[in-house]
Amino acid sequence: MAGSTVKLWDGPVRVVHWLLVVLLLFSWWSAEDHLNWHRWSGYAILGLVVFRVWWGFAGGEAARFASFVKGPKAIAAYARTLGGRETAVTPGHNPLGALSVVAILLVLAVQVGLGLFTVDVDAFEAGPLSDRVSFETGRQIAEWHELNFRILQALVAVHVLAIAFYAVWKRTNLVWPMITGRRVLPSDPGLAGAPWWRLIVGVLLAAAVAWFLSRGARF
Ligand code: HEM
Ligand code: HEM
Repeated sequence: MAGSTVKLWDGPVRVVHWLLVVLLLFSWWSAEDHLNWHRWSGYAILGLVVFRVWWGFAGGEAARFASFVKGPKAIAAYARTLGGRETAVTPGHNPLGALSVVAILLVLAVQVGLGLFTVDVDAFEAGPLSDRVSFETGRQIAEWHELNFRILQALVAVHVLAIAFYAVWKRTNLVWPMITGRRVLPSDPGLAGAPWWRLIVGVLLAAAVAWFLSRGARF
């Protein structure tokens, strides 16, 4: 496709994305027998989610929820174009993909939130907020923590299948832009960036929230 090379995904979006992938795999691996690491990985994911939500309001234009979260009409209209084999040209998440982005972030937040209250069978290992609930409730929450993980796995599977669909059916490589930040589009939409101080505020905010919760939400 002839067109312009556009700066699409800013650095923070890409770094958050690939860290999420690595840490989620690590959290999965460490959930059985390495619960100490499992908790640390969970706090890091918590920080990434907090940061991504902040960035969804304060980040570059393509990262903002306001620029990609659309209503049912736009979603239905976009869905009708899915069958066509023309290259996808949305300068950011398309209206349908936006649903998946929001769902993954929400389910991730629930996963971490439940993890904070989770208690292991023998009560030796637990999340930092588990002393606020009874052992039985902590065990119940552990079940939900596991159930919610299945939901997360399903969402990620759909996500990866969707990316594969774009690669195969629409001959559109979405992965490369998520690595390099750049994409060739018919025209440059001139997406606005975000000032540096917002990145710093976001990192500090995310670290503060993760640290505070990891300490059992006590000063
Ligand atoms: C643990 C697994 C994964 C999670 C939790 C995840 C989560 C996400 C999230 C939250 C976004 C939105 C990005 C943002 O706006 O900040 C996203 C986008 C994206 N992800 Fe993933 N992802 C995962 C795995 C993968 C894998 C394995 C690939 C590559 C094959 C991939 C490719 C992409 C691409 C290309 C986009 C941008 C889609 C677009 O152009 O609209 N993801 N992912
Ligand atoms: C997105 C991040 C997370 C993922 C994907 C995840 C995933 C899982 C999974 C699949 C299990 C079940 C292991 C099993 O018994 O088969 C588990 C157990 C557990 N998780 Fe997480 N978790 C996450 C975050 C957290 C956080 C933040 C904490 C606490 C700080 C936590 C604390 C625990 C504890 C204590 C268990 C043991 C519960 C039990 O053995 O029944 N998790 N996690």
